[in-house]
Formats: sequence, C-alpha cells, structure tokens
Amino acid sequence: MADRNKGAAPMSDRPVEPERFFDHFDSFVETSQTGSVVDRLNARYLALIHANRALIDGSSVLDLASHDGLFSFAALQNGASRVVGIEAEPGLVAMSRANMERYDIAPSRYEFICGDVFDDIETVEPCDIVLCFGILYHVNNHMLLLTRIAESDPRAMIVDTNISQLESAVIEVRNPLGGSPPRLGGQLEGYPTKAALDAMFSSFGWTHRYVDWTQSGLLDRPQMDDYRTGQRVTAIIDCNRQDLSARQRDRAVRSVIEQQRDRRSQWVVIMRIAAEVGTTPQALCVWVRKAERALRQKAKLTAE
Ligand SMILES: C[S@@+](CC[C@H](N)C(=O)[O-])C[C@H]1O[C@@H](n2cnc3c(N)ncnc32)[C@H](O)[C@@H]1O
Repeated sequence: MADRNKGAAPMSDRPVEPERFFDHFDSFVETSQTGSVVDRLNARYLALIHANRALIDGSSVLDLASHDGLFSFAALQNGASRVVGIEAEPGLVAMSRANMERYDIAPSRYEFICGDVFDDIETVEPCDIVLCFGILYHVNNHMLLLTRIAESDPRAMIVDTNISQLESAVIEVRNPLGGSPPRLGGQLEGYPTKAALDAMFSSFGWTHRYVDWTQSGLLDRPQMDDYRTGQRVTAIIDCNRQDLSARQRDRAVRSVIEQQRDRRSQWVVIMRIAAEVGTTPQALCVWVRKAERALRQKAKLTAE
C-alpha cells in the first residue's frame, strides 16, 4: 500500500530512471492486462511518453482506453497538469483510481470515467493532448472517433496501434483476437493500414510523423515483436490548432451554413470555403456538423 511513512516524500516524487519507469511503479505491472511484461511497458513508456515529455509538460491530457491508468500516471509524472481517462471496464477504472492513490497523486489531478470512448469523449473537458493507445484497432468507426477527437480541438495526439499489413489505404475487418479473414457472424474490429492512418490523419489537416522503432534501441526487449515487424506503429500528430483562429473558423462555419442549400450541396460549399480559408474540407466539416448539432439542440430547447 501507499508509503505513509511520516516525513517521507510521496512515492511519485522520488527520483526515477526513465529506462526502468514501471520497475519503480510496479503496481501497473500487476494490474495491466495487456502485454504487461515490465520490459515492454518500459519500452512503450520511453517511446510514447518520455520521448514526448516536452509536449506533455504543462498540458492537460485525455487518455482514451486508459486501462489501469498506466499512461495517465506516466503523463502526470512527465508534467501533465491533469489527466482524464475513459475506460470501458469498471474493474480497470477502479484499479486506475487505486493506482493513483497508491502513488499519492492528488485527486484534483485525475479523473477516470467508466464509459465508451464514442459516448463520453463529447462530455469530457477539452484537453491539450490526446493519448490514443491500443484502441484504434478495437473499433470499427475510425473516422467517427477521429471526428470526436477533432471536435475536442486538441493541440496534439499520440497514437499507438496495431495495423493491418494489407496494401493501400484500407481498414481490414477482423475478429477480435486477430481473426483474419473474419469468421462470418462473428464480432468485428477494424485494423487500419498505415496508408489508411496517413489518409485519415491528413484529412483533418493534421500533420504527423511515426516513431522510428528500428532506431529506438528498444526492440531487443521481450515481447516487442509487433513493433519490430511493423505490425504496430506509433504516430505523433500535430493537430494544428493554431492554423485557424476561432473567429476565422466561426466565420467559415457560418458561411457554409448560410450558403448550403441542402445536404447534397454541403460538400461542394465546404470544399470551396475550406480552400478559401486554407483548411481541409474534413476539418471544416467537423466544425459545421458540430455547429449544426448545437443549433438543433437550441431549437429543441426553445420548442420545449
Ligand atoms: C489493448 S488495451 C490498451 C490499454 C492501454 N491504452 C495501452 O495502450 O496499453 C485496450 C483497452 O481499451 C478498452 N476499450 C476497448 N474498447 C473501448 C471503448 N469503446 N471505450 C473505452 N474503452 C475501451 C479495453 O477495456 C482495454 O482496457
């Protein structure tokens, strides 16, 4: 349990060797249920969090599929001002909270929501950085999830995901536990190819780079085959929050809403106005649809 020795520094304040991060905070080795060999957890910590500490320091962080809170905790240890995690499994949410208590993290610095990323991302506070680790291959509706993320207007996102080895920009439908081709009638999840990730990220006007795992010096550890063979990738995405001011964005959205005649003409108008203001049609579409939803909501409230 937590170190309650009188006068002792909180466990989370003690010096830590980054290479052995999860050896220091070994509760997560016990509670994590996904590739939780400590060497793999440490390697992922180094590449996903520690290497991005300049990005994370001082930022609020949204951790999608936060599991037992391991990367939320790691973000806090790298200077995040606050983290919000969304995780579907109630037992893992309880473990996340217990892990934070175990390492003396002030409750005001974290919140773990038991829910579905699709349902709950709209309701949580907007955050600067989104962590999207180990979830993009468990969903089918990638563009919807990325749209929800774009609506929350983060500064940057870090994605760590298994990918399909098929060629071209496709999402390979598989059964969970890696079943491909999928058994008919079975449950489905979608593995994007790297080209599909490139297409989806850039459609929102985001720019991204991949972590070069081959140059990381981390691949000789156990359980790193997926990264070594290119079946799993990590992308650092700049969501270009600064590209369009809030005022320019509102004006562009208003122009689309005023000029579109119907849904069919919306894309033509969106493409023209997006080109005029220097953003991508998908990015503008995100803001138009969000504004339309708000207008519908307002009209509903007025009618009640
Ligand atoms: C492979 S684990 C990844 C955990 C952690 N982010 C990591 O990278 O190690 C996937 C996690 O996503 C959670 N999950 C799956 N679908 C979800 C959804 N729609 N909403 C919220 N959590 C979900 C699972 O319960 C599980 O904890």
